[in-house]
Amino acid sequence: MNGFDLGRHMAETGQEVERMLERLLPGIRGTESRLFEAMRYACLGGGKRLRPYLVMASSGLFGVGTHHALRVAAAIECVHCYSLVHDDLPAMDDDDFRRGRPTVHKAYDDATAILAGDALLTLAFEIVADPDTHEDPQVRVSLATALAKAAGAAGMVGGQMLDMLAEEEEFDIGAVTRLQRLKTGELFAFSCEAGAILGKSDPSRRNALRGYAHDMGLAFQIADDLLDVTGREEDLGKAVGKDAAAGKATFVSILGEERAREQAHLLADQAIRHLEIFDKRADPLRAVATFVVARRA
Ligand code: IPE
Ligand code: IPE
Ligand code: MG
Ligand code: MG
Ligand code: MG
Repeated sequence: MNGFDLGRHMAETGQEVERMLERLLPGIRGTESRLFEAMRYACLGGGKRLRPYLVMASSGLFGVGTHHALRVAAAIECVHCYSLVHDDLPAMDDDDFRRGRPTVHKAYDDATAILAGDALLTLAFEIVADPDTHEDPQVRVSLATALAKAAGAAGMVGGQMLDMLAEEEEFDIGAVTRLQRLKTGELFAFSCEAGAILGKSDPSRRNALRGYAHDMGLAFQIADDLLDVTGREEDLGKAVGKDAAAGKATFVSILGEERAREQAHLLADQAIRHLEIFDKRADPLRAVATFVVARRA
């Protein structure tokens, strides 16, 4: 990719996102400071920051100002972190480690984790709706609408419901594909579309980014499922072997490791093909598609 250094670029963007999150998250003060502390614990100092990176990379295609893009990048990371806090709760995946340290409900308690998640979700919409995110109210409404759809019942939350049912019911490959598209793919799709929305792009470019995000998101989630089988807890910062222990239907449980890996590579190639209408400014997105299937963490 013409010597494009994704690792360095992601690390630099991650630092900028960290600074923006630091500014936007509430400071630790007042009687309810435990809530603010848990929100900061959930969001700061960890994670690959992949969704924020996608916002920055898609914004780069349309010449969007860095400040605007960074605010949306922080908003999607708040939604992602909230989803992880709730995903780890005893009533869901019951995980004790995340990003190399105790999960929020372990470091605090279940009630605080639920509330911190709730508050991160609403903070994301407060950030997006603020005029500092974009001067055009129409753009802000479009962002809020797209984020609501991606995060809600027709997106991530709906996918999480299916994911819980995948422990109890027979899911075939089509059902698992739909589950993963909703659970993981929709937040990726929002992240990629965000640049197009901020840049007031034409529908064809926005659709191309959506197509890219869906295939890349699926490849990403297959890799997550593979890492649950083949990865190392030290690298991932979270427990492994959880899906099989829960009897959960995943690409790996249905296809087996080898075919799941092949499928992830095919999807990454397909994702890159959606980007043909873009010039070399889309190289960061091309590199991400390759990275998500090769990653070890
Ligand atoms: C983990 O996402 C949750 C899934 C959707 C599989 P990431 O692997 O992006 O987690 P962080 O943000 O790097 O911790
Ligand atoms: C979590 O998926 C997806 C969301 C939080 C929306 P997983 O349950 O597979 O994620 P990990 O493996 O705990 O990170
Ligand atoms: Mg889960
Ligand atoms: Mg989980
Ligand atoms: Mg997983």
